[in-house]
Amino acid sequence: MLRDKQSLNQTRRSFFKTFATAGIATATAPYQTAKAGFRARVDYPSTRLANLRDLRINQPIDINYPDAESPGVLVRLGRKLSNGVGPDQDIVAYSTLCPHEGFRLIYDATDKTLNCPGHYSRFDTELSGQQIFGMCNQSLPQFSLYLDDKGDIFADGADELIYGRTSNVLEG
Ligand code: FES
Repeated sequence: MLRDKQSLNQTRRSFFKTFATAGIATATAPYQTAKAGFRARVDYPSTRLANLRDLRINQPIDINYPDAESPGVLVRLGRKLSNGVGPDQDIVAYSTLCPHEGFRLIYDATDKTLNCPGHYSRFDTELSGQQIFGMCNQSLPQFSLYLDDKGDIFADGADELIYGRTSNVLEG
């Protein structure tokens, strides 16, 4: 049974990766040097997270956004993404509070996923934080990013409700 579930999960993941790759290949929008290719559902104050020079491929750095109570990661994945930013469109950022019950997620560099030690949900950082396994009913909140001309990387919003907040405002 477990083996069947693992096979199913791998199949689903392969499907979504293929789908996402096709979407990137057919995208006609011009490359944007600054702003991510998605709009945040909520705008938070613009906050500097790091500089381009601080990032190494597949080595996330810890961030806090939109405030000190909200841990996350900023990561350069080394592969062009539909909503990545930077010269290679490969930089993304996510909350690391599991949407299910708030356990702190752990990055796995072997498959670029964020993984929950609580109940084992898994989220794909190459697919906008999409849940690929587990009991959550929400994908991982992704932070919208942009770069300035000095290579400083800023966040200015999120696309999902961050765990533990009753609304998408800083007081929530
Ligand atoms: S807290 Fe992450 S799956 Fe339950």
